[in-house]
Amino acid sequence: MKKALDYAAVKASRFVDELIELLTLPSVSTDPAYADKVEKTAAWLVDHLGALGATSARLTATQGHPIVTAHFQAGDALPTVLVYGHYDVQPPDPLALWESPPFEPVIKGSQLYARGSCDDKGQLFMHLKALEAWMRTTGRPPVNVKLILEGEEECGSASLPGFIEEHKEWLDADVVIISDTSMFASGVPSITYGLRGMTYVEVSLTGPDRDLHSGTYGGAIENPINALARMIGNMHDADHRITIDGFYDEVVALTSAERQEMAALPFDVAAWLKEVGVSVSRTERGYSELEAATARPTLDCNGIWGGYIGEGAKTVLPSRASAKISMRLVPNQNPKDIAAKLQAWMEAKTPPTMRLDFRMIHGAEGVLVDTDSTAMAAAAKAVEGVYGCRPFLVRIGGSIPVVADFKRILGLDSVLMGFGLDSDAIHSPNEHFGLDRFAEGIEAIIRFHALYADMAGSDEH
Ligand code: BES
Ligand code: MN
Ligand code: MN
Repeated sequence: MKKALDYAAVKASRFVDELIELLTLPSVSTDPAYADKVEKTAAWLVDHLGALGATSARLTATQGHPIVTAHFQAGDALPTVLVYGHYDVQPPDPLALWESPPFEPVIKGSQLYARGSCDDKGQLFMHLKALEAWMRTTGRPPVNVKLILEGEEECGSASLPGFIEEHKEWLDADVVIISDTSMFASGVPSITYGLRGMTYVEVSLTGPDRDLHSGTYGGAIENPINALARMIGNMHDADHRITIDGFYDEVVALTSAERQEMAALPFDVAAWLKEVGVSVSRTERGYSELEAATARPTLDCNGIWGGYIGEGAKTVLPSRASAKISMRLVPNQNPKDIAAKLQAWMEAKTPPTMRLDFRMIHGAEGVLVDTDSTAMAAAAKAVEGVYGCRPFLVRIGGSIPVVADFKRILGLDSVLMGFGLDSDAIHSPNEHFGLDRFAEGIEAIIRFHALYADMAGSDEH
């Protein structure tokens, strides 16, 4: 292992140069205008993996964006690790708020600024560089490594479950490892054992069959924006609980042991709020900020539009109002069931002069992974080797849809060993990733390979 670690340390600056090249490719998955760039990114990765000595590195076209797979075979008797990552990124909007262009990476101080630097190109690239360190020193990693890198994570992973179903045999492994989550804080490593799920919908209310003069008709014809805003406002009660009928029915409650562990985490609420420019929190009554933001379900309006939003004033009673609404789910809530519950609730409240259009855009299940596995123990030890302290086990509020799919389709648990920070501004302007964390992540992955080979080798293998 020492040789591989030394190699990574010596090559650190070239690794960063290569990551910069990867970050210049604008692989925005949600916007069809970028489709050729997404494909180009996939091809770049295939080439890169091939050059590292993967036994097979290929691009598979899908209905959406390509899936990249590669295989590093070390030995039939050795355990197999499946690495998942996503090479697509969020749109860079709002562009005006970037201090440097999103796809022209720059290093400022110890941070690398670019869209995707943390989420998730920077983090998936750590896995490639850990593999390079093994390939160039010992000729093979200590475990078999398969990679599956997708280009649709940021828009709902529509093609991935089908691909996993179709390639069950190829994907056979002992565990999945993913670096697409955050550390608890700078220098405070953590491993994530819980992710929230998601139901994302787009809704519209249509009233009069054209935009109306608000002087001629206002007061007598109900306004769709007013009606939609009222509905959205009523989706929470005074205790900040969600009022949709049956919304909490399937929720797995936090155990008191879990609540105690969470309360013991070194979470600085005041600093956390300050970092986003807010002075007080707003949580569901009875839950702490950390519980509410990681282990309780939510409902948020992500965007709302209709009527006139240009310069100046235009007196209009609009025909239509629309909104995008996301709900973060926790285990055992079912994404489609939650969509149906919201739809029924909204239908019941739709004014008789209006029509509700309701469309589910995507869904993902929340998950809790096995914390007692050999792979988890190996990851904890790997992280400890880098940071000198045991990682905290945490739940996070974000979603990685494939984690539930790997469990359901392949029966595999995932180890979520991530090196982001909440302050990295993922999905925001000026996304960045610490070069220290990039190097630490590579080191942790190298250590994980060696430790998992030892630890799994002595039990099931
Ligand atoms: N890497 C994130 C998940 C994440 C979010 C990790 C916050 C750590 C902190 C992932 O790329 C992501 O953004 N997921 C989406 C999934 C959605 C589009 C289904 C999310 O959580 O919004
Ligand atoms: Mn991600
Ligand atoms: Mn993301």
